[in-house]
Amino acid sequence: MIRIFFLPIATGMAALTIGGATISQASADDEAAAFDENCTTCHIEGDIPQWREQFPNTDDGRERLDTFLQDHHASDADDRALIITYIEKAL
Ligand code: HEC
Repeated sequence: MIRIFFLPIATGMAALTIGGATISQASADDEAAAFDENCTTCHIEGDIPQWREQFPNTDDGRERLDTFLQDHHASDADDRALIITYIEKAL
């Protein structure tokens, strides 16, 4: 009785957790991948807090970062959007 009751619940929970993680991680993975591909040749994660001081998470800060990155190793608009989100989430 215990096994029959326990297994379907355990399986259902695992499926839910995996489903949720997959959905929310897909874009976070894209953001991390864009940062890795374009930035980590020269930078480390530890650079980000300093950038956030220069380019705060406001409309103005985001715009200035976007303009800066157009000429700084992120000319692709899609990559740039992912990278900016990645930097914003890092703090
Ligand atoms: C080829 C090497 C290289 C790559 C690739 C690179 N950077 Fe830089 N970046 C530098 C150097 C050098 C500086 C100036 C010195 C410093 O602040 O570390 C700099 C400075 C910065 C600054 C500070 C700007 C300022 O006004 O002081 C930011 C923000 C930044 N980079 C973000 C990025 C991001 C995001 C990426 C990925 C899209 C990236 N960088 C890719 C070399 C690079």
